[in-house]
Amino acid sequence: MKIFLDTANIDEIRKAFSLGVLDGVTTNPSLAAKENKNFDQLVKEILEVFKGTDGIVNLEVVSEKADDMTREGLKLANISKNVVVKIPCIEEGLKACKILSKAKVRVNVTLCFSASQALLAAKNGAYFISPFIGRLDDQNDNGMRVVEEIKKIYMNYSFKTQILVASVRTARQVVEAAVIGADVCTVPYGVFEKLYKHPLTDIGQKKFLEDWYSYKARFR
Ligand code: E4P
Repeated sequence: MKIFLDTANIDEIRKAFSLGVLDGVTTNPSLAAKENKNFDQLVKEILEVFKGTDGIVNLEVVSEKADDMTREGLKLANISKNVVVKIPCIEEGLKACKILSKAKVRVNVTLCFSASQALLAAKNGAYFISPFIGRLDDQNDNGMRVVEEIKKIYMNYSFKTQILVASVRTARQVVEAAVIGADVCTVPYGVFEKLYKHPLTDIGQKKFLEDWYSYKARFR
């Protein structure tokens, strides 16, 4: 399963990338708005991190009509081969998804909250579908159940669209996404750290080093 970082923060992206396990980044207008620099500069810095790799940088359109979304999507896709264009799962977005996908632009259909939305996105050639599981759970719904349904539907009909589990709140959800067989999971930096940090690892490592140095001291 690919791991993306769900942020537009360049420091977080650089730190996560340095571990060697990062496959890409998802941004959205709200994440960009948290940063203190203009969007072009932000995109330039993020793309620089993935230069020379297949890493994916998801950039979202903010237009509202299919024609405008298509134009904006083409512009974003032309910035770099690493860019995937995020399009919201609304009527105009589905139209734009079809046009862009036909033009060989990779589209991530975002703000997906149901398996029926995922079915239509796949029919229109989406490269990624992004079910927002955390926001569904917040509504007392079951985000992972939607991911399971999407997985089953895509397998039933051999859709190529990749499932990108988004709006993730916990490391446990990343494991659940992998068990279901999702293609990608995007996580905020706090969750990314929890994927590898474990208190028992830290305690074990501390003890190993203590024992090692007391052993060394005995034969000085
Ligand atoms: C995905 O592409 C989105 O950026 C993201 O996962 C939204 O998550 P949120 O519900 O934490 O805002």
